[in-house]
Amino acid sequence: MFRVVYISSAIKPFSESELVDLLVKSREKNSQKGITGMLLYNDGNFMQLIEGKETAVKQLYTVISHDPRHHGHILLLNEQTSESLFGEWSMAFRNLTDQNIQKIPGFSRFMDRALIAENFKKDPTGCLDLLKMFRDESR
Ligand SMILES: Cc1cc2nc3c(=O)[nH]c(=O)nc-3n(C[C@H](O)[C@H](O)[C@H](O)COP(=O)(O)O)c2cc1C
Repeated sequence: MFRVVYISSAIKPFSESELVDLLVKSREKNSQKGITGMLLYNDGNFMQLIEGKETAVKQLYTVISHDPRHHGHILLLNEQTSESLFGEWSMAFRNLTDQNIQKIPGFSRFMDRALIAENFKKDPTGCLDLLKMFRDESR
């Protein structure tokens, strides 16, 4: 099992229907490839975890990172793992409103693009805590 986590920024903000369209297509394709994960969207910024077989995950990340709808990718995690965190979801999703964010300690830290690289060096697995928290809220 292999896991990738990255952040990126939309070229222009996604509408609700664009997000739905992205998710429907992604879930269908991910199911076919045995990929699971979670996508967070906040005000034009994405954080996504994808997990599955190493070749499938690496191939998908290559495709996603060339998608012209977003840019400025920062790869946060790219690693082997024995545990699947999102085995139940072909792609869990949260569109995070400002109201939600205010309740979450540490959230802005991870979505602040100016700080993210620096923070990540100090706390490489911190993004997993954030994703797991949203996973557990979705259960
Ligand atoms: C933020 C973001 C996340 C994406 N996540 C996935 C994903 O989990 N699975 C997937 O198949 N495509 C995902 N895509 C879409 C791919 O980049 C790409 O558009 C799609 O796989 C191409 O499919 P097609 O060749 O059938 O048109 C994502 C795109 C963006 C912008």
